[in-house]
Parts: sequence; structure tokens; C-alpha cells
Amino acid sequence: MAELVVGGVTAVWIGHRADAALVRADSAAQRIAYMTQPGIPGTIARRLAAAEGAAAFLIEVPDGDAAKSLAVTEEVCGRLAAAGMERGDLIVAVGGGAVTDLAGFVAAVYLRGIRVHYVPTTLLGAVDAAIGGKTGVNLEAKNLVGVFRHPARVIVDLDILGALSPAARRPGAAEALKAGMVGDAELVRLLERDGLDAPIDEVIERAIRVKAAVVEQDFREAGLRAVLNYGHTVGHALEVAARIGHGEAIAVGMVAAGRASALLLGFDAEDRQRAAIARLGLPIAAPAVDADRIRALLGADKKRSGGVPRMVLLAAIGNPLVAAVDDATVTAALTAVGIGGPIR
Ligand SMILES: NC(=O)c1ccc[n+]([C@@H]2O[C@H](COP(=O)([O-])OP(=O)(O)OC[C@H]3O[C@@H](n4cnc5c(N)ncnc54)[C@H](O)[C@@H]3O)[C@@H](O)[C@H]2O)c1
Ligand SMILES: [Zn+2]
Repeated sequence: MAELVVGGVTAVWIGHRADAALVRADSAAQRIAYMTQPGIPGTIARRLAAAEGAAAFLIEVPDGDAAKSLAVTEEVCGRLAAAGMERGDLIVAVGGGAVTDLAGFVAAVYLRGIRVHYVPTTLLGAVDAAIGGKTGVNLEAKNLVGVFRHPARVIVDLDILGALSPAARRPGAAEALKAGMVGDAELVRLLERDGLDAPIDEVIERAIRVKAAVVEQDFREAGLRAVLNYGHTVGHALEVAARIGHGEAIAVGMVAAGRASALLLGFDAEDRQRAAIARLGLPIAAPAVDADRIRALLGADKKRSGGVPRMVLLAAIGNPLVAAVDDATVTAALTAVGIGGPIR
């Protein structure tokens, strides 16, 4: 069991068999809205809510990112009002990153802000989405509308996360490896050695500590926080152009960023990174994709400023920086993952 604090605000509990009292913690709420999705998250939320008796009620939102919309936000706020939720009451989000992103946004705007606790039920949720206070919903673009606001509490139940299949753990493992690459060499070693069998408690705690340390210095992403986007420049382009999952996309993106890092900064752990990615069952090369489309998407990347594409690079494991990347380096980085030519 571990307890840590993120941003001076969020109490993060990591342990086994969290019950309703632990989830509610020190909240004196009269009513608790359990926000969740169908399937396993819903089952967990129902169990926790049942233990609260009449104080708790359930709000089930559509599955996955379909929950992250202004329409669902409006509907959920209406349900909260109808249930008489007041400012001293509590929202508990039980689910993956989609549920916590929505619940965090709703909790930030309902009555100008009420308390919210997260119970992440995916590994990606535990190591990434639940940590750092980014909330929001999608419009034409992903996460176009949202606010920065930390949850009061995050309850990481290792029994829930330990029950996830290897395939379900992979996207979270990709983000954990990313966290290791930008901030914790020991975390990289664990994943290199054991892949998806690495001790989940240690992986989660270490990944959270990396993100927490960055977010503490740059909550609103004025600068440093961008290093958490390591692998995400090429990754996001692939996610859009090749329609692969986020974890797979950033795995390939890290390989590309590793090559750019080697060329510009003398980064010497490219092979280790590639081996760790493969050990996790994640791809080290892109599927067949239109290279021009990828380049166009890179040009539109939000980290691009003043016409110069910017990428997160590593001087070494644990030593990231954001830098302008020239055209030849972009080409070499893409070629390293098989975009626009055979893998070199
Ligand atoms: N706020 C942030 O900083 C941040 C960071 C990363 C990602 N995100 C967001 O998180 C979302 C992705 O999160 P995700 O990967 O957790 O996906 P998700 O929340 O969409 O969940 C994926 C699927 O898994 C199901 N699920 C959840 N828990 C389960 C369990 N224990 N067993 C079986 N199935 C389960 C969900 O119902 C859903 O169908 C995206 O919307 C993304 O934008 C936010
Ligand atoms: Zn990511």
C-alpha cells in the first residue's frame, strides 16, 4: 500500500480491495453520485454504491469516448440537479480515462465545482488519465473543451487492475514506459526485464511519481509538462492516419522520437527502448500508411510553433527536452519506423 500526493491536492491511494468507506474518505457528502460505464466498471460502481445505501446513486454514461461530449455533460448535470446534489456532495468516477475525464469536467462546472474522486479501472487511467488534473470532453477535436482541475482523491485498486487481460494492460504499459523514458530509469528496467508481468504496484507508483513531479512544476502546460508527450508527436499522427490504438501509436512514436534523439542529442538507448517496447508486445514499426499524410499531420501538430516542428527528445533516459526538429531528422525518424521507406 502506498499513499502519495499530486499537485499538493490529490491524495493517491494505491492498495488492494478498496471499499466504499475508503473511496468516500473524509468527505461528509450527503449524496454521492457514482459515475460509470456499462460492463466491469459498472459492476464495481454498483458494489461500492450499494455499501453507501440511500446516500449513493448511479449515473451510467455511454461506453468509451462516447461519454466525453457536451451533450452527455448536460444530461449528467441535469441528473445531479434532479437528485439535489449540493456543493458539499461528492462525485465518484469509476472507469477508464473516458469516465474520469468526463466526471472531472462535470465536477468542475456543476455548481462551479464540487468534489470528485476517481477510481480508475484501466491501467492507462491509473498511470495517466486520473493523474494531473486534465479534464474535458471532445468536440470536433479530442479534448477541445475542458479545464485543469485536480480530483481530491484517486483510489488505485490493484485487485481491479491486476484482473485486466494482457491486451487491456498494454496501452497503460506503453504510457508507463513513456514515463520511465522521460523520468525513471528503474521503471524502464522493470518493464525491460518483465514486460507485462512487471510488478503492477511498482509500475503504477513509479509512473504516477514521474507524472506528478512534472505536473507539480507545470500544472497548466506552459512548458515542461509537454515532456509527457514523448512519443506522442508521431504517435498522434499515426493514431489518426493508421487508425491504430493510442498505446500502439505512441510505442511506434517513441521509436521515431528515439531516432531523432540519437541524431540530435546522441541518445544512446534506442536499442534498449525498442527491446522494451517489443517485450511489452507493442509494435516498433508503423503499419502501412501514407507518409505524406503523416507529414501533413505532423505539420499541424500543436507543438509546432513558428513553422518549426517541435518534438520531445531524450538526451538520455530521464533527461527529456522539447526541441525544434529539422526536416532531415523528421525524415530519419519516420524512416526508422518504416514510414516513407524501408526501416533503417
Ligand atoms: N486526463 C488526462 O490526462 C488523460 C490522459 C490520457 C488519456 N486520457 C483520456 O482517457 C481516455 C482513454 O482511457 P482508457 O484507455 O482508460 O479508455 P476508456 O476509458 O475508453 O476505457 C476503454 C474500455 O475499457 C472498458 N473498461 C474500463 N475498465 C475496465 C475493466 N476493469 N475491465 C474491462 N473493461 C474495462 C471501458 O468501459 C471501455 O469500454 C481517452 O478519452 C483519453 O483522452 C486522459
Ligand atoms: Zn498518451
